Amino acid sequence: MSDWIAANYDVLRGVHILAIIAWMAGLLYLPRLFAYHTGAAPGSELDVTFQTMEGKLLRIIMNPAMAVAWILGLTLLWHRYNLAGAAVFAQPWLIAKLAGVIFVTGWHHYLALARKAFARGENKKSQKFWRATNELPFLAAIVMVIAVTTEFGSR
Ligand code: HEM
Repeated sequence: MSDWIAANYDVLRGVHILAIIAWMAGLLYLPRLFAYHTGAAPGSELDVTFQTMEGKLLRIIMNPAMAVAWILGLTLLWHRYNLAGAAVFAQPWLIAKLAGVIFVTGWHHYLALARKAFARGENKKSQKFWRATNELPFLAAIVMVIAVTTEFGSR
């Protein structure tokens, strides 16, 4: 298994990046839908349309993309662990990367709960909140991508 991962590392890394693209697209788009959704009266035709769009975005794009990103990310990490041993976890770039990963995964789950609140007609957050928080995953992505491409602090 480890040999197979090593032989296909670059392809696995490419598919990891593709999954991240789909996941990030959803993380950036869903709060935008929420921002518009706040203006729709619960039970209205517009409300139902937004509920359908949000549900499909999470179910068809975001959840599978997150799963693939995680599975392949852990596979890449396994390979780095085989090369460098446990010391890889003390590398500043990997700590920064994993902190970003924890943040975006938590944010994904927060958005999934917010979708359920919208579906029950119980959203409490303002349009301003959804607009203001919209860019958070992108800020985390900057940290994560620069961390893996530069491997800063690497010893
Ligand atoms: C979900 C959990 C994730 C894990 C466990 C993980 C882990 C990893 C690991 C170990 C590598 C290999 C570094 C290398 O050997 O080059 C990698 C590559 C990469 N990751 Fe992730 N990652 C995750 C999510 C993300 C996210 C959310 C982003 C961006 C928003 C991201 C962006 C990248 C990029 C751009 C590369 C390629 C770096 C390069 O080729 O130099 N990853 N990831």
